Amino acid sequence: MTQILAIESSCDETAAAVLNGDQVLSNIISSQLDHAEYGGVIPELASRLHQQNIIRVVDKALSEAGITAQELDAVAFTQGPGLLGALLVGSSFAKAFAWGLSIPLIAVNHMEAHVLANFLNTPTPDFPFLCLTVSGGHTQLVWVTSPIEMEILGQTLDDAAGEAFDKAAKLLGLPYPGGPEIDKWAQKGDSQAFSFPKPEVGPYDFSFSGLKTSLLYRVRDGLKENSQFIQENLADLCASYQGKIIEILLEKLSFAANKQGAQHLALAGGVSANSLLRNKFQVLCDQNGWRAHIPEFAYCTDNAAMIGIAGYYKYQEKAFADWKVVPYAKLGR
Ligand code: KG4
Ligand code: ZN
Repeated sequence: MTQILAIESSCDETAAAVLNGDQVLSNIISSQLDHAEYGGVIPELASRLHQQNIIRVVDKALSEAGITAQELDAVAFTQGPGLLGALLVGSSFAKAFAWGLSIPLIAVNHMEAHVLANFLNTPTPDFPFLCLTVSGGHTQLVWVTSPIEMEILGQTLDDAAGEAFDKAAKLLGLPYPGGPEIDKWAQKGDSQAFSFPKPEVGPYDFSFSGLKTSLLYRVRDGLKENSQFIQENLADLCASYQGKIIEILLEKLSFAANKQGAQHLALAGGVSANSLLRNKFQVLCDQNGWRAHIPEFAYCTDNAAMIGIAGYYKYQEKAFADWKVVPYAKLGR
């Protein structure tokens, strides 16, 4: 079998995993909690913390997997997109490690890895399938024809879905990352209490910045009349705002699924940990006779196991990286 060490360092998690074929032997994540006091990720701090943590995290991944470095067949790492300084730490480490062991190096696209996280669960999706990838930095409708062939049908014109959650949480005084906080508060609120607009964009496009601005205005107006407006309406604000994001996401997904004639649909990325999205996605698929695939919680937000499975598919194609490979911050370089 093929044993791959995978490294993920694109944002604020330093993560390493070991896979044997498509089986996860270990999946270690060290989340950088230091950013919380700043209300968002500080890129320079993220790079330094990756540098401090990476050896410990890789050691732990190998020991939990019960293998030695010499038993590895390849090293996979996140090439991008992400924070460049953070990516440089992971890529430099991966290069040195693979070079030292004289084994191949595999460069993985972080967004494709999110999609392929669906292959860490069983049953796996049948090809072709439609994936809604919703993370902190991206929102994409992806038509997946094989583990290494994916076409982006549509994406966001401005903020990503995760960003919409994080920015709203900040506005409401909730800690970073905001998605899980809004999810938690929304469960106690009424999604019809406040109305938010749906953006007028093309059928495959997303836009969330108008929604965020409309929340800002609603809160500003509310505070003019009542200084306790946020505290008194927090659950309803979260439920209404979250409800609108999920409604928009599923409407676009549904449109694309019908157009593509999709049979299997999948979710991916950090926002796919959202409880309302998971529930409504399942209901939508059941109503339309589509097979629904949702990664386990541990594989929704950033993790190295997904880099490992993407690396495994590339290994089978012998799609190895050159030693001169460099990370990239944005999709399309
Ligand atoms: O995929 P991810 O871990 O990192 C990126 O590649 O960006 O996604 C992180 C995003 C953050 O914006 C976070 O607020 C959001 O995923 N998120 C959630 C939930 N859990 C994480 N958003 C909504 N509901 C959640 N339960
Ligand atoms: Zn991610």
